[in-house]
Amino acid sequence: MTLPAQLKSRLRLPLIAAPMFLVSGPALVTAACRAGVIGSFPTANCRTIEELDHWLAAIGDDQKRAADATGTAPAPFCPNLIVHRSNPRVGDDLAAVLRARSEMVITSVGSPEPVLKPLKDAGCLVLADVASVRHAERAAAAGVDGLVLLTAGAGGQTGWANPFAFVRAVRSFWDGIVVMAGGMSDGRAIAAAEMLGCDLAYMGTRFIATRESMAKDEYKAMLVGSRLDDVLLTRAFTGLETNMLRPSIVAAGLDPDNLPARGAIDIAKDINAAERAKPEARRWKDIWSAGHSVSGVADVPAVAELVERTAQEYEAARRSGA
Ligand SMILES: Cc1cc2nc3c(=O)[nH]c(=O)nc-3n(C[C@H](O)[C@H](O)[C@H](O)COP(=O)(O)O)c2cc1C
Repeated sequence: MTLPAQLKSRLRLPLIAAPMFLVSGPALVTAACRAGVIGSFPTANCRTIEELDHWLAAIGDDQKRAADATGTAPAPFCPNLIVHRSNPRVGDDLAAVLRARSEMVITSVGSPEPVLKPLKDAGCLVLADVASVRHAERAAAAGVDGLVLLTAGAGGQTGWANPFAFVRAVRSFWDGIVVMAGGMSDGRAIAAAEMLGCDLAYMGTRFIATRESMAKDEYKAMLVGSRLDDVLLTRAFTGLETNMLRPSIVAAGLDPDNLPARGAIDIAKDINAAERAKPEARRWKDIWSAGHSVSGVADVPAVAELVERTAQEYEAARRSGA
């Protein structure tokens, strides 16, 4: 087992509530941490550094309150730095995360190298999101602590690799932390990921449909009403292969089978308030993403209830040897 014992002892489940653009905020993160799973959010969800400092302070305060109330530290929170070259705020966001003394960070949509040294020097555990064996090798060589394997069917900007093959390929050269991302919505799947050689699982889509997520009620209801076949893989909206909900594309007046040409990746535009307010961005704001795991979303519970249910499923699966 490669998870630090100090971290493992604080987890009810080997699970990360995955970072999600415009979905994960302080309410989701603190509820996850209090329930005993790592709560993550992309720093790009904050429009300014001041807002990010405010979020980090609120989450830190909640961690202290939870520890005082229970006598044990809650699960850690974990900011996600989007390190794509089009993100102009990486340096400032990194500084905010260091000021807040985050114990863990996830890097995504690019190489972790530019932010790795300051994070490691501060004693922060760094997990890098990777979608290919080559990227996994490069992140491992750069000195990260863990690899988040983005697999086929994951929500948001997705991977293409089969999870069985990907985990086993990475385990052939890597004995650090492995997190599997994509396709999981219940405790049995988490137990299966562990059996395959993972230390932690990511669940994204399942956490969108919780009371504490920032997603619109219509988005949550659409997840409950959708199934695996409603997920469409397309580059039309973000430039990278992204899994989207067909019904939301139809509701926006577009034909999912005749989408416009490939969009452009521009994080600067995504996080800019004026750009977000433009009519085109507003129209696309209601085109929603989900992973294949939408097949396991049947309700909109509170995070604590979801984690408890998932923990019971996980324990039952382990007892039965699944
Ligand atoms: C709406 C949405 C937004 C996402 N935004 C981000 C993000 O900002 N940063 C990131 O690293 N991953 C992002 N992801 C990917 C998730 O972190 C995770 O890899 C994925 O949801 C796992 O697959 P699942 O949804 O089937 O559980 C996003 C996913 C969704 C569904």
